[in-house]
Amino acid sequence: MVQRRLFLLLFFCVAGSRIASADTNRQDVAALKSLMKKWKNVPPSWGKSDDPCSARWDGIRCDENSRVTELNLFGVNIEGTLSDDIGNLTALRTLDLSSNSGLGGTLTAAIGNLVQLTKLALIGCSFIGTLPSELGNLSQLEFFALNSNRFTGHIPPSLGKLSKVTWLDLADNKLNGPIPNSKDHGTGFDQLIMAQHFHLNQNMLQGSIPDYLFNSSMALKHILLDRNNFSGPIPASIGVLPKLEVLRLNDNAFTGSVPAINNLTKLHVLMLSNNKLSGLMPNLTGMVGLENVDLSNNSFEPSEAPSWFTKLDKLMTLKMQSVGLSGQLPQGLFSLRNLQYVALSDNQLNGTLDMGNISNDLYVDVRNNKIISLAVYSSLKGDLLELTGNPVCGDSLLSSMKPCTGHTIEPPPVPRFEVQCANPFLESIIFRAPSFGDVIKYLPDLHNNLSSKLNSCTPNQLGLGYSNNDAYLNVDIRACPVGKKRFNYSQVLNCFNLTLQTYKPPEIFGPYYVHAHPYPFHDKASRAVLIGVVTGSVLLVVGLALVGVYAVWQKKQAQKLGSINDPFASWGSMGEDIGEAPKIKSARCFTFEQLRLSTHDFREINAIGAGGYGTVYRGKLPDGQLIAIKRSKQGSMQGGLEFKTEIELLSRVHHKNLVGLVGFCFEKGERMLVYELISNGTLSEALYGKISHIILSRKFQQGTCANYVLC
Ligand SMILES: *[C@@H]1O[C@H](CO)[C@@H](O)[C@H](O)[C@H]1NC(C)=O
Ligand SMILES: *[C@@H]1O[C@H](CO)[C@@H](O)[C@H](O)[C@H]1NC(C)=O
Ligand SMILES: *[C@@H]1O[C@H](CO)[C@@H](O)[C@H](O)[C@H]1NC(C)=O
Ligand SMILES: *[C@@H]1O[C@H](CO)[C@@H](O)[C@H](O)[C@H]1NC(C)=O
Ligand SMILES: *[C@@H]1O[C@H](CO)[C@@H](O)[C@H](O)[C@H]1NC(C)=O
Ligand SMILES: *[C@@H]1O[C@H](CO)[C@@H](O)[C@H](O)[C@H]1NC(C)=O
Ligand SMILES: *[C@@H]1O[C@H](CO)[C@@H](O)[C@H](O)[C@H]1NC(C)=O
Ligand SMILES: *[C@@H]1O[C@H](CO)[C@@H](O)[C@H](O)[C@H]1NC(C)=O
Ligand SMILES: *[C@@H]1O[C@H](CO)[C@@H](O)[C@H](O)[C@H]1NC(C)=O
Ligand SMILES: *[C@@H]1O[C@H](CO)[C@@H](O)[C@H](O)[C@H]1NC(C)=O
Ligand SMILES: *[C@@H]1O[C@H](CO)[C@@H](O)[C@H](O)[C@H]1NC(C)=O
Ligand SMILES: *[C@@H]1O[C@H](CO)[C@@H](O)[C@H](O)[C@H]1NC(C)=O
Repeated sequence: MVQRRLFLLLFFCVAGSRIASADTNRQDVAALKSLMKKWKNVPPSWGKSDDPCSARWDGIRCDENSRVTELNLFGVNIEGTLSDDIGNLTALRTLDLSSNSGLGGTLTAAIGNLVQLTKLALIGCSFIGTLPSELGNLSQLEFFALNSNRFTGHIPPSLGKLSKVTWLDLADNKLNGPIPNSKDHGTGFDQLIMAQHFHLNQNMLQGSIPDYLFNSSMALKHILLDRNNFSGPIPASIGVLPKLEVLRLNDNAFTGSVPAINNLTKLHVLMLSNNKLSGLMPNLTGMVGLENVDLSNNSFEPSEAPSWFTKLDKLMTLKMQSVGLSGQLPQGLFSLRNLQYVALSDNQLNGTLDMGNISNDLYVDVRNNKIISLAVYSSLKGDLLELTGNPVCGDSLLSSMKPCTGHTIEPPPVPRFEVQCANPFLESIIFRAPSFGDVIKYLPDLHNNLSSKLNSCTPNQLGLGYSNNDAYLNVDIRACPVGKKRFNYSQVLNCFNLTLQTYKPPEIFGPYYVHAHPYPFHDKASRAVLIGVVTGSVLLVVGLALVGVYAVWQKKQAQKLGSINDPFASWGSMGEDIGEAPKIKSARCFTFEQLRLSTHDFREINAIGAGGYGTVYRGKLPDGQLIAIKRSKQGSMQGGLEFKTEIELLSRVHHKNLVGLVGFCFEKGERMLVYELISNGTLSEALYGKISHIILSRKFQQGTCANYVLC
């Protein structure tokens, strides 16, 4: 009996150890352990047993033969180098070590041994040196992303052998030399007919691009060659790529004229700005898919506004700064339904800027042209139009108003997606070619879409912020764990790893890549990590707060112009002396006494707002009308001219979104404007909007109410 038990025990031990030793392939275990020795910050599950497959080392997946097929240590702050040992994991199909900025050194040629590899992502690490030509041996590779490192040297022509590649991203490195092509280099990118993405932007690539680099059998959707040093003409063969959606060639040294590309009806984004292109203005007739067009800063032959200006129905963003446009802009441009952003500064546009029934949130920059008058039939936010440097700003009502005062372009208000927690996961999504010009309109969509994607993987609350840096759109996400203090390794590795492009954001956002901040998995996180995370969080919070403050400010700038009867009438003398009284059609002149009584001696309790300009009081006139009085600070440098301008302007303008001016008072050193009091909450906002754009100056001549009674 005892013997039998002993036997059974022995049997189980042996069986157990046989299962264990039969587990993970020995070569794979040795390779992983050896890699691990050279790495700091591997997950604690690593090395606890000799069996990465069944003991589930974080980030490791295996096949039924206990070979390691997946190594994913995205964003866990690995530090060290990638040694030759990686080449022994010969069954590997996915290798993703992205967002480990402490992982670097040169990329070992042994990577070429991983002939089963279909996905290789080393995005946002610190690799240096040249790309090993052995990469060309990865014949199964479909997803290939080495962007945002510090690789130097030429692109190896052997990459032309990656015949299955669909995603090829070498952007944001320091690569130089040409794009390899098979005629000059034996193998080259012209052979990558499955490729949908050539992302080579933000390098130092140069040389001209031969015509045969592209042909109609290629599957290319996104060509990003922007921010390099390419020269020579744009190859005409780009015009025959039937699936092309995004073409960014901006910020290079391309010359010659733009080839016929009218057959690219799927193209959404066309950016050719900041080159040396010449010849005729490109004819974009028929390119009905276009949403974002930027042809700025080229040397095209001067021309009038092309006919396609009014025909590209989907157009959202149009930038043609300094391209020799002349004549009058067609009104039809402004009635394109989707148009959000128009930048046509530094041209020779003349005549009337006739915007017709412009939509509210269309931003228009036509600085430094020859426009002599403005026609707008409906509401237009003053701060969405830039007219500085046009004759129309010289001597008209507009001259002291926003469109002509050269204000800087501020970011629009951001919908607030703020979340707070001790251990958020922070990650930036960099969108490289969004179509829209008005990002805030689409952030809610992105928030919903991404939030549901992430929540289907792990419960979290998602915060969002954004910045437009380096010509790309940078969306910062901040995910807070729900119901626990922090995310664990498997959640970070499997939920937030947006590297492999399996997450599809709303299409209008275009191609993207992600960059994660190191996650504080442990309380004992290294000081550097802690400092990094704290700084990052503080910056994000401060950023969001600033954006929030701006949003409020912006919202309060709700002033709109409308129904301007005679917008270009001159004020007459515009000297320091305000001269004649304001030409007031419907504003009353109040005495100081009247207003003092209506506010019970400007009592604190009647104050409904205050700021640098002074205070706004609630009041009631003897006839029962409720009013709001903006009382400038005693001794403040209220500008006489501006005061007069505001009175005259507001008394003429009637618009649903503008509170009406009832009257004013200028007496006893007081300057007060009296508005209708709207009972709902928009009042102080509307007032603030008016008040904040009055510019103070010392030049006002003191006087009394009587001097101004015209009403
Ligand atoms: C990797 O494989 C090579 C040759 O097969 C062997 O010499 C080397 O020891 C292996 N490295 C590891 C860490 O197992
Ligand atoms: C791997 O790549 C190198 C350099 O491109 C090449 O010399 C070698 O023949 C390739 N090996 C295989 C097995 O294809
Ligand atoms: C496109 O180029 C590839 C590789 O050079 C070639 O195999 C293919 O035949 C070409 N297709 C056309 C339509 O020219
Ligand atoms: C760009 O390329 C030209 C030659 O085509 C070279 O003269 C110039 O120095 C390069 N510029 C940069 C910034 O690399
Ligand atoms: C565009 O397509 C039409 C019809 O398929 C063809 O006749 C024309 O040559 C093409 N134009 C260019 C520039 O490829
Ligand atoms: C632009 O192309 C369209 C269609 O190909 C043509 O009808 C039109 O005349 C062209 N416009 C110019 C200015 O060449
Ligand atoms: C065009 O050039 C000007 C001056 O260099 C620059 O400020 C502007 O940003 C450029 N426009 C675009 C769209 O790149
Ligand atoms: C406006 O520009 C067009 C095209 O350059 C020119 O023919 C016309 O004379 C200009 N009009 C005025 C009033 O300068
Ligand atoms: C602007 O819109 C209003 C009402 O929507 C319409 O009555 C008016 O005719 C339009 N004006 C122009 C110039 O389109
Ligand atoms: C990580 O957290 C998830 C969700 O709370 C849980 O299901 C999983 O078991 C955890 N993984 C580890 C390794 O603790
Ligand atoms: C994240 O990694 C897991 C496993 O490593 C993989 O299955 C998943 O597709 C990746 N997710 C994304 C969005 O790339
Ligand atoms: C996000 O948007 C894409 C593109 O519209 C869509 O395919 C996807 O289903 C959406 N995802 C979620 C989770 O809503």
